[in-house]
Amino acid sequence: MPFRTIIEPFRIHATQAVTFTTPEQREAALERAGYNLFGLHGDEVLIDLLTDSGTGAMSSRQWAAMMDGDETYAGSRSFYRFQDVVRGLTGLKEVIPTHQGRAAERILFAVTVKPGHVVPNNTHFDTTRANIEYCGAEARDLVIAEGRVPATRHPFKGNMDVAALEATIAQVGRERVPLVMVTVTNNSGGGQPVSLENLRAVRAVCDRHRIPLYLDACRFAENAYFIKLREPGCAGQSPRAIARAMFALADGCTMSAKKDGLANIGGFLAMNDPDVARECRNLLVLTEGFPTYGGLAGYDLEAVATGLDEVLDEEYLKYRLRSTAYLAEKAEQAGVPVVQPPGGHAVYLDAQALLPQIPAAQYPAQALAVELYRAGGVRGVEIGSVMFGKRQPDGRELPAPMELVRLAVPRRTYTQSHVDYVAEVIAAVAERKDRIRGYRIIEQAPWLRHFTARFAPL
Ligand code: F0G
Repeated sequence: MPFRTIIEPFRIHATQAVTFTTPEQREAALERAGYNLFGLHGDEVLIDLLTDSGTGAMSSRQWAAMMDGDETYAGSRSFYRFQDVVRGLTGLKEVIPTHQGRAAERILFAVTVKPGHVVPNNTHFDTTRANIEYCGAEARDLVIAEGRVPATRHPFKGNMDVAALEATIAQVGRERVPLVMVTVTNNSGGGQPVSLENLRAVRAVCDRHRIPLYLDACRFAENAYFIKLREPGCAGQSPRAIARAMFALADGCTMSAKKDGLANIGGFLAMNDPDVARECRNLLVLTEGFPTYGGLAGYDLEAVATGLDEVLDEEYLKYRLRSTAYLAEKAEQAGVPVVQPPGGHAVYLDAQALLPQIPAAQYPAQALAVELYRAGGVRGVEIGSVMFGKRQPDGRELPAPMELVRLAVPRRTYTQSHVDYVAEVIAAVAERKDRIRGYRIIEQAPWLRHFTARFAPL
C-alpha cells in the first residue's frame, strides 16, 4: 500500500481501564515502597513499562485455543501440540515445558554447571547470572566492545566478542566451560540483536572445543526480524526461516514464553542431548511438575503454542520494532540520550549522560526511574548499579558498566497516544534534570537485590 504510517496490525477487542493518580498519591506510594518501583501496586501506575514479560495482550486466537486446553495430567493433547510447535520452530528434539524462563535456567544449570565453572554469554540477564552464581560458578559477559557504549551505533550490538570467547576458554580451560550461551536479543545490553554471522562464529569456536551452545531465546522473533532488516543476504527470507537458522546453530535453548511466546506465563527448555534432557526431566518432576506440563496448565501450553506462531508474522514484527523505535525518537527529541540504535522490546535511557552530577555509587538510573514515576505515573526499571553493581571483598561496590533506565514496551498493549504521553513525561523530567539527586540503599537481599531493596533519597 502507498502509505507510510505503520499501524497496529490488530483492532482492540477487549479493553482494560488504566488508573490515574494525583502527585500526592504517587509521593506516598514512593515513600511506602522505599523508592523501589517494584514495590508499587499496579493500580498506582498509569503506563507500566517495567517489563515486556508476561504483560502483553493475547489475541482472540490465543484465547480461543485456551478454551480447547486439555488438562490431562500426563500426556495432555495440549502438550503434544506445544511440543510440535517448539520442535518445528527450533528443530530441537527434547522439549521440556517450564513455568517461565528462570525455571528452565535453574534446571539446566543444576544439571550442567558445577562450582568453579565459567559460563560465557554476550550479556547474562539477571536471573541467568544469579542462577549460575547460585551453582558456585562464574557468569562472564563477553559482548563486543560496541555493545558497552550507549551512543555507539552498530547493527548487531548484541554480538559476542568471539576473540574474547576464545581467550576465556584458553584461560580457564575447556573442562571448566560447561556451555556457552548467547542471549537473543541481548536484553541487559540494550535489547540489541545478534547476527547470524556472529552465531556461526560462536558455533565454530564451540565446535572446536566441543562445548555445547545454548540460546537464551526469549526474544528470538525480534532478533530474527533485525537480521532480516540488517544482515546482508537476509532481506528476502521470512522471519520464520531466519529463526530456524538461528536455532539450527544451537544445541539447546532456554525460553521465557512471556516475551516472544506472546503469553502471560510459560517457558521451556529444549535440547538435542537425550542424557541432559533425562536429568533435566528428573529435576523438573521435583519442583515444576510432570514432563508433559512442567508447571503450566494445559491452556497455558495452548496459549504459548499459538503465540509462538503469531509472533513470526511480519506485519506484527514490523509494527513491533517500529513502535519501539518511535518511543526512542521521542525520548531523544525530549533531550534524553538513549542507547543507539533502539532495541526490539525496549528503549534504554542513558541516565549517566543525563544526570552527570550523580555518581554511579548514588544510582543515577534509579533516580531517573523514580522521577519518571513521580512526574507522570510512568514505571520503567533501573538497569545499572542497583541491578549489576558488584560487591567487592573489601565491602565497596564496583559500579555497572552502564546506568540505564529501561522502558520496556508490552506487546500489543499500548497505543501511539500512550507513547506520546510517555514522551511528554520524559521531557518534563529532562527539563529539571539539574535538581535531581541520588539515592543510597538502606536495605538489600544477598542476590537479585533490585527487586526488594529499599532506598533513601540523598
Ligand atoms: N533471559 C532473558 C534475556 C530475560 O529477559 C528474562 C526475563 C529471562 C531470561 C527470565 O525469564 O522472567 O520468564 O523467568 N526478563 C524479564 C525482563 C523479567 O523484564 O526483562 P522469566
